[in-house]
Amino acid sequence: MLAKEIRFIERFKAQASHAAQVQSRVKKLDKIEKLEPPRRRRTLTFAFPPMPRSGEDVVKLAGVGKAYGSKVIYDNLDLMIRRKERWAVMGVNGAGKSTLLKLVAGEIAADAGTVTLGASVRLGYFAQHAMELLDPDKTVYETLEEAFPLASVGTLKSLGGCFGFSGGDIDKICRVLSGGEKARVVMARLLFDRPNLLVLDEPTNHLDLATKEMLLTSLRDFEGTMLFVSHDRRFLSALSNRVLELVPEGIHAYGGGYLEYVARSGHEAPGLRA
Ligand SMILES: Nc1ncnc2c1ncn2[C@@H]1O[C@H](COP(=O)(O)OP(=O)(O)O)[C@@H](O)[C@H]1O
Ligand SMILES: [Mg+2]
Repeated sequence: MLAKEIRFIERFKAQASHAAQVQSRVKKLDKIEKLEPPRRRRTLTFAFPPMPRSGEDVVKLAGVGKAYGSKVIYDNLDLMIRRKERWAVMGVNGAGKSTLLKLVAGEIAADAGTVTLGASVRLGYFAQHAMELLDPDKTVYETLEEAFPLASVGTLKSLGGCFGFSGGDIDKICRVLSGGEKARVVMARLLFDRPNLLVLDEPTNHLDLATKEMLLTSLRDFEGTMLFVSHDRRFLSALSNRVLELVPEGIHAYGGGYLEYVARSGHEAPGLRA
């Protein structure tokens, strides 16, 4: 309506015969409160840049022990993660999911035993609180530029675009970003770094639906190895081909994906959200 009225005014404003009509339309338009139309966020699918191939043995935990004070989380844990396996780690709150991911990512050290990453493993770790570690004073663009100083302006802009930062959004400083936007910046930086082992701790918690879809599509095509925690059924079922269940008695490893786990165990993951 606005566009139509403006066209009318533009067309007839110089003609005396229409002066009254033009006047009344200008007045009418002035009275209308004008809102910015909601911008549709375009999400392009992010394609992984080619990554180096890792060896067949990607992560090996041997006799791993980990306790916080007197609280024992792992005792004599053995686990082998091989190339192209995608392990979904499940367990109730406090079961030790994040602790396992931190051990693999090298964020914390084991009290006993060894955690070994295989040859040519390139780790990408998304911590449960990764968004809090962004420099609040840097813009989205500067954050990406700092991580990839050799990438061209165009490359970084299209990377931002894939993660929903189109137009001026890429020049926003991280301080003003929402939780979901911060998660998108972290994810863009992580995935563009050509990891072949992704360790993701609840990556979808702050993501909006469109970004979740985009991430799911990208991760489906990921050629590497994954160890992840998610409470999202679609992520679990679409991405996992192995399940590691943390229970009070210890760990259960399932050789199939999440759907097989559900079929065999007769129940879903604890804490599933949708
Ligand atoms: N740095 C720490 N100091 C003391 N206790 C911790 C620390 N980190 C985790 N814990 C405890 O260890 C247990 C496992 O934590 P975590 O691995 O984060 O569980 P999950 O990710 O499965 O919810 C929880 O009881 C938690 O409170
Ligand atoms: Mg956790």
